[in-house]
Amino acid sequence: MSNKIVYITRRSRFNAAHKLWNEDWSSEKNHEVFGKCANENWHGHNFDLFVTVKGTPNPETGYSMNFNALKAILKEYVEDPIDHKNLNLDVPWMEGQLTTMENLIVAIWDRIKAPIKESGCELHSLKLCESENNFAEYFGGE
Ligand code: NI
Repeated sequence: MSNKIVYITRRSRFNAAHKLWNEDWSSEKNHEVFGKCANENWHGHNFDLFVTVKGTPNPETGYSMNFNALKAILKEYVEDPIDHKNLNLDVPWMEGQLTTMENLIVAIWDRIKAPIKESGCELHSLKLCESENNFAEYFGGE
C-alpha cells in the first residue's frame, strides 16, 4: 500500500460580471487604477478556476479524492452562486469587497476548504484565471 501523497486538479469554468470601483476615490482615479474593469456599466470575464487537492490514494478506490465529489462541491459552493452572476451585486459572500481575482480566490478558498476536508481530502491550491494572461494563485496562507 502506498503512502504517497498525490495532487489532483479539477478545472471549473464560469463567467461573471463585475466592476472594480473604490467608492472613496474620484471617477478619474478609479479609471486610472482599474482601467477597463472600472467601466460603469459592468463587463464580464470567462473565469477558469483550477482546484488542486492532495491526498493519499485510498487503497480501495485508488483515488486521492473522487472527482465526482469534488465536482459536486465546486458546483454547489462556486459555480451555482457565481456563474452568470454579477459579482458585485448577486454574490452575498463578496459583499463589501472589491471583486478582484485576489479577493475572489480567497473567498472561494474559505468556502470550499471545509467541504473538501469533510470528503477526506485537503485543499492544496487554487489558481483563478481571469483572462489568458492574468491569473491569481492562493495556497491558504496569511
Ligand atoms: Ni474586469
